[in-house]
Amino acid sequence: MIDRKTFDRLREIVYEKSGINLTENKKALVTARLNKRLRALGLKTHKEYLEYLLNDKSGDELIHMIDVISTNVTRFFRESDHFDFLKKVFVRWVEMGQRRFRMWSAGCSSGEEPYSMAMVLLEALPAYAEVDLKILATDISTQVLERASEGVYEEKKVMEIPRGLLSKYFVRDRTDGEVTYSVSDRLKRIIVFRRLNLARPPFPMKGPLDVIFCRNVMIYFDKYVRENLLEEFYRLLKDDGYLFLGHSESITGIKTNFRPVRPSIYTKG
Ligand SMILES: C[S@@+](CC[C@H](N)C(=O)[O-])C[C@H]1O[C@@H](n2cnc3c(N)ncnc32)[C@H](O)[C@@H]1O
Repeated sequence: MIDRKTFDRLREIVYEKSGINLTENKKALVTARLNKRLRALGLKTHKEYLEYLLNDKSGDELIHMIDVISTNVTRFFRESDHFDFLKKVFVRWVEMGQRRFRMWSAGCSSGEEPYSMAMVLLEALPAYAEVDLKILATDISTQVLERASEGVYEEKKVMEIPRGLLSKYFVRDRTDGEVTYSVSDRLKRIIVFRRLNLARPPFPMKGPLDVIFCRNVMIYFDKYVRENLLEEFYRLLKDDGYLFLGHSESITGIKTNFRPVRPSIYTKG
């Protein structure tokens, strides 16, 4: 197990660089995750690892560390009621004459969330309307972003996708006996993947955005980082736009002008 002094120093660095708040009960998890980096670098102790990290002027190791520390669990159509709501508001906006849409998947992990958004939107788009639609998908982890932009998923990962959508938006491949599904260009064209640290607002986007998904990301942040992030989301969202948080994330006790319209869906107050 990692020693106290090293854990505290690493925890400070992770917080400062990513906003991720590693609480005491994460010590065993952090030890296990950092062991991957120790092995990759041929180091024996976490103390040696800390020294290596502090001496690495390129900043590359910091990126690797945040890659292994962050939890990237995600699924296609996770918390499916959010996608039903997204579909409804999108259709309403199109019917009202809106043709340009800018949406954001903040903390997109390996891409399942923005690709799910893209499928829902394309499916909901009425035949008469031509729209200019873009989804910005960002994450702090370079590893997940690489997987997201490749857009190749194992068979078990695509189980949650309704069959009709799977055959329409994915190409099935078999390499060395293993079946994979690749996202079609039609979906890829709508999405732009970028690295962005949510703990460091203000962000370079101007807005206004129609929709922001930031689900199951803020759980790793403390109150201070959450408040700043919500303030920035408030600035970027259009007046009748929507912010989607994870169902297990509550903003009670947090200073914000966002007002709930459904469980874990917010609009400007
Ligand atoms: C549990 S996943 C959630 C993925 C997806 N939003 C969902 O709900 O399925 C959390 C993601 O947040 C990212 N993350 C953590 N800290 C971040 C930060 N400071 N800036 C940007 N992304 C961050 C992680 O790399 C990870 O991919």
